[in-house]
Amino acid sequence: MVGNSKDPMKIIIDTDPGQDDAVAILLALASDQLDVLGITAVAGNVPLALTEKNARMVCELARKPGTRVFAGAKSPMERPLVTAEYVHGKTGLDGPVLPDPDMPLQPLHGVDFIVETLLSEPAGEVTLCTLGPLTNIGLALQQAPQIAERVEQIVMMGGGFFEGGNVTPAAEFNIYVDPEAAHMVFESGIPIVMMPLDVTHKVLTTRSRLARIEKLATPVSRAVVELLEFFERFDEKKYGTDGGPLHDPTVIAWLLKPELFSGRYCNVEIETNSPLTAGMTVVDWWQVTGKPHNALVIRDVNADGFFDLLVEHLARL
Ligand code: BDR
Ligand code: CA
Repeated sequence: MVGNSKDPMKIIIDTDPGQDDAVAILLALASDQLDVLGITAVAGNVPLALTEKNARMVCELARKPGTRVFAGAKSPMERPLVTAEYVHGKTGLDGPVLPDPDMPLQPLHGVDFIVETLLSEPAGEVTLCTLGPLTNIGLALQQAPQIAERVEQIVMMGGGFFEGGNVTPAAEFNIYVDPEAAHMVFESGIPIVMMPLDVTHKVLTTRSRLARIEKLATPVSRAVVELLEFFERFDEKKYGTDGGPLHDPTVIAWLLKPELFSGRYCNVEIETNSPLTAGMTVVDWWQVTGKPHNALVIRDVNADGFFDLLVEHLARL
């Protein structure tokens, strides 16, 4: 099931904001096609105390303080936490000066929220949008394995195959931080749509695209431009591109307009053992193993169409 149906699609956003996570949250909150049941924070780009706070700051920026934000896991299932302040700055949302949030953090643990929501909503109606390490989803599957058959789908930003990795030559950050959780998710039988670096590296925050956002001249658009100007610096230098990849919003864009993207169904396995390639997403793109397909792996995108969608939605906030 994809977007464009009449009833808004129920989603939970699992996230580690992060500037690109922030833009993904804004895109989701701007849409009337999506019903954001809750946002669960996870440790990733920065520690949990910052990701849960950042998630609330972004909801307030969108003027949606009624959105429920839950704090999930503080550290990966089996490994020490690896963070990425070198990309996102020490707060995770470096760039603009945003006020501390007034809206409360929900008392329930994020993993309990995921489990309770999936058990109480009708089966097959809730999509999990994962924008960070998969720890919360792995823990939810461990706690209540029966949720696997109740999830409509997981749409995730994670992995990389033709592009390789961005933390090690083999691994992308979200999978690298918690390969054991990612392994559980890919083995769970839940339908998966995967947005790897192969597609996100085609969605660049070029000067002209940021100028379009700036032209909206709203508090949200100004904050987004400042967030992205900070965020793109690291990758522009690394890849020598005009703009940096806008990874996480591709997850939400896929729900809103899947026709912008193309990919193929593949078998995907996660390397958890080798110190050299831990967190690698081994994608059987050429179908050489005969192993069952467990993910729709996206490789291409209409990047201009993606930015049209983003600008149109940011204008609503
Ligand atoms: C992913 O890692 C984080 O730094 C970004 O927020 C994105 O989710 C890209 O590898
Ligand atoms: Ca992220």
